[in-house]
Amino acid sequence: MSRIALLGANGQLGQDLRRSLREHDVVPLTRADFDVTDHCLTSEVLGTIRPSIIINTTAYHRVDDCETLPESAYRVNALAVLNLARIANEHDAVLVHFSTDYVFDGRLREPYAERSEPMPLSVYANSKLAGEYLARSAARKCLLIRTCGLYGEMGSRGKGGNFVEMMLRKASSGERIQVVSDQVVTPTYTKDLADQIALLLSTTHTGLFHITSEGECSWFEFAHAIFELTGIEADLVPTTSDVYKAPAIRPRYSVLENARLKELGLNRMRHWREALGDYLELKGVRQSDHAGGSGA
Ligand SMILES: NC(=O)c1ccc[n+]([C@@H]2O[C@H](COP(=O)([O-])OP(=O)(O)OC[C@H]3O[C@@H](n4cnc5c(N)ncnc54)[C@H](OP(=O)(O)O)[C@@H]3O)[C@@H](O)[C@H]2O)c1
Repeated sequence: MSRIALLGANGQLGQDLRRSLREHDVVPLTRADFDVTDHCLTSEVLGTIRPSIIINTTAYHRVDDCETLPESAYRVNALAVLNLARIANEHDAVLVHFSTDYVFDGRLREPYAERSEPMPLSVYANSKLAGEYLARSAARKCLLIRTCGLYGEMGSRGKGGNFVEMMLRKASSGERIQVVSDQVVTPTYTKDLADQIALLLSTTHTGLFHITSEGECSWFEFAHAIFELTGIEADLVPTTSDVYKAPAIRPRYSVLENARLKELGLNRMRHWREALGDYLELKGVRQSDHAGGSGA
């Protein structure tokens, strides 16, 4: 049993990690305990906890806002991570930190493995990559996890909900729903990710891991699957990134390969469609005659 300081404990991944790591002595920490950009207070509070593992799920991840607020992005996604790495060293603790599929530019058009070269396109992606470098160079023991398209029971605190709930909300209001079909990702259920992390923490492996669901789909295909699995009639139409014109550029293809997990025989991640089915069932909106299917 490890003593774990869990930062961002009220977030969607944080909440599922609390459940998956319940056999450990987890100390849940939220913004009410400290703001990670307050380096002294962060150090003081973590000093009283004396963790052997520090899990950092905090992030400034309103991707479009990062374009106009780069300082906020770098303060949370990079400088706070350096501080956490130093604190982890003081306690001889492992720093577990999260990064994103957006560190890639999407030109490869085949799944990115851990050895693939990052090429970020936005302020958010650059700030997360800076955080990766700082975590890995400063922390003596670091587990760095890149993931993609998270959705969980609690919804993302930073983004104000999750994609699945947004689709269901829009469908119930009867509005036309336009979703990009030229950004290919692997949506990942935070419950599965949290269980996979619990397994990884039961080993001594450190370093960089890609952890997402299996398979791939465009956001449009994901939205289509939500309505197919729930049987909800929705006015869903595909659009493109050029028409949508978000301030931050997103990669057109940011599918991650769980290469290291597979090499180590540790990959427990399911196909995104099966995970989505379970999520919708948990939410009580899944149509019972759909059994998952194969998906993209
Ligand atoms: N969501 C995605 O699609 C996605 C994709 C790839 C990677 N990731 C990465 O995965 C990790 C977890 O994401 P998530 O979706 O679970 O995020 P989330 O639901 O927004 O949770 C993040 C938590 O961090 C807390 N937090 C943010 N800034 C803070 C600060 N300055 N000081 C203290 N606490 C702070 C938030 O507290 P408040 O609730 O008080 O704001 C929130 O509870 C992040 O590192 C993210 O970059 C996410």
